[in-house]
Amino acid sequence: MNLRTPALFGAVLGVLAVPTLAAAADRECAQSPGKVIEVCVFTKDGSAFYEVSRAGKPVLAAAPLGLTFAGEPAARITALTAAKRGASDTTWEQPWGEQRVIRDNHSELTVSLAGDTPLSKTFDVTFRLFDDGLGFRYAYGAIPAGQNVSVTDDRTSFRPVGAYDAWWYEGLGQERDEYLYKQTDARRITLAETPLTLKRTAGNEAGGLYLSFHEAALVDFPSMLLAGDGAGTLKARLMPWQDGTLARKTGPFTTPWRTVLIGETAGALADSRIELNLNEPSKIADTSWIKPGKYVGVWWEMHLERSTWGSGPKHGANTANVERYMDFAAKYGFDGVLVEGWNEGWDGDWISNGEKFSFTKAYPDFDLKAITDYGKKKGVKLIGHNETAGAVPNYEAQLEDAMKLYESVGISQVKTGYVRHSGTILDQQGEKQWFAGQYMVRHNLHVAQVAAQHHISIDAHEPVKDTGLRRTWPNMLSREGARGQEFNAWGNPTNPPEHTTILPFTRMLGGPMDFTPGIFDVVHGKSELTRRGQSTLAVQLALYVVLYSPIQMAADLPENYEARPDAFQFIRDVPTDWETSKTLQGEIGDYIVTARQPRGGKDWFLGALTDETARKLTQKLDFLAPGKRYEAQIYADGPGADYITNTTALTVSKKVVTSKDSLDFDMAPGGGAAVRFKALD
Ligand code: NOJ
Ligand code: CA
Repeated sequence: MNLRTPALFGAVLGVLAVPTLAAAADRECAQSPGKVIEVCVFTKDGSAFYEVSRAGKPVLAAAPLGLTFAGEPAARITALTAAKRGASDTTWEQPWGEQRVIRDNHSELTVSLAGDTPLSKTFDVTFRLFDDGLGFRYAYGAIPAGQNVSVTDDRTSFRPVGAYDAWWYEGLGQERDEYLYKQTDARRITLAETPLTLKRTAGNEAGGLYLSFHEAALVDFPSMLLAGDGAGTLKARLMPWQDGTLARKTGPFTTPWRTVLIGETAGALADSRIELNLNEPSKIADTSWIKPGKYVGVWWEMHLERSTWGSGPKHGANTANVERYMDFAAKYGFDGVLVEGWNEGWDGDWISNGEKFSFTKAYPDFDLKAITDYGKKKGVKLIGHNETAGAVPNYEAQLEDAMKLYESVGISQVKTGYVRHSGTILDQQGEKQWFAGQYMVRHNLHVAQVAAQHHISIDAHEPVKDTGLRRTWPNMLSREGARGQEFNAWGNPTNPPEHTTILPFTRMLGGPMDFTPGIFDVVHGKSELTRRGQSTLAVQLALYVVLYSPIQMAADLPENYEARPDAFQFIRDVPTDWETSKTLQGEIGDYIVTARQPRGGKDWFLGALTDETARKLTQKLDFLAPGKRYEAQIYADGPGADYITNTTALTVSKKVVTSKDSLDFDMAPGGGAAVRFKALD
């Protein structure tokens, strides 16, 4: 594989890098390029603090900075000894993504701080300021090369000014990130995962204010949770090793970026590109083999218990069944067929026996060579599946052989999985690991790197949260990391309608999600509402636009699609790679309207969702190209549709529109709308 050193794709707007070295002052401040965001750093009473304002008004009150190391007390930080400034305005191009060309316009302030312990004697904090938020990270550059150190505390805190509501779930739960969000006063946060999104509820005279805390470029470091103190301060809590240390590092080192998105609307958070801008450029020189696309799979039938992952009379991954899916994929233009349960190890209690999984040996009724040859004839790729059940040493031992085998038969995408309670993963030393501590952060990247050497892309389930690493490793195509569609098969309860109106403003701020939309028969024979999907058919279409992923599954059974060719047409038409994306309207947990333009295309696609409340929305079409006509193909909730009694009523209509028009959406309870704007000129 070709690796290259970081390089910008094209500095269309020119680079304005004018680093200046200022004499040390007690307090150093810097503003974002448009002077919207300001950060100030200072030392006081033995600590270093930063504070943030937006448009001249305080947003984050002074909060501490710095790490603590094993073997020495928490450092007293006594002085700010130097400040360096810079600015940069560039654009770069994604190989695939929600937006092809991304502008990275930021100013930068690096302060050097002096502490009274050997390891913190001098360290730097670099702030990158954008008009829609900021990131900052530590560089412990004075720790001698090769010296091993253990981080025992991260003092980084966030102190929002005013009263906020938050959407969150308890961190360190056994189901990792697969929980429903609760909305509470932010002061009630105990321990939350990031992205953690807040909406200001008081002190809001000049309009709305939304914040989201997360991190970017999480590499070789534990992932960060945020612990509340009951009074509104949120402090970093890193997922520990079993001995209680947080990160094991070798000097000198830098940390991931801690990020804060700041906007006047919820949509502004969703449209921020800070996350990607704070990651390094691609380390894969030739990305032409990395392909977005749509797929179907021998998957939902297992979740509905119509077939099994394990061997036996109901084994789903048999050659004939896979070829049936390949025929379906070829007929309707899908790129791939995911097949789960193809390999040895699924029989019995596989969750407890992950070390029995083979990643190269297929069950006898699954003929890998015949299937991939069949796929080649049909123009459809087999998508590999590696469920590890969290038995990481077993997977790592087979990883190279497995990827080599898959490459040899033409597989170019593998879905991985780590179904195991968080905190019970056993590493090579038999030490227990959290699902996103430093060990698993290393493992997840290692898998992507080995896969890249074999031209294979990864779709990780039960993953470490997304922190924008897809920029650096574009073969990290998508991941799960939230409650996905699978919960609508067997969840108790299943996902309520508001779930998918929360995700775009929380989980999705980290990056793409393999939610697996497109279930047409959400009821699947169940009588209880909370044991089956809670949405209308229009929602299942809208999700392809609202929840971004470069690979999207059409998750339902082939026969359910063939029974509804009217609705299925939208899934056939919708692409998964975009020129640009815009969140047009939205409130967290209530509704959202998203529009995206296909990469290199003239059409537009729109998705709208509401929660359990019926909602009428008017949407201006001013995102369309002025003066051009479009045929709006509208997939709306039909008469009587709602998520409880009538999930399948759908009206498909057509209308010629221009950018001067508006569309009215009359969304059912638990409903939505999907539109393709087909360019006519
Ligand atoms: C959980 C994943 O999210 C799901 O997609 C998969 O089918 C099962 N694990 C089995 O690997
Ligand atoms: Ca899962």
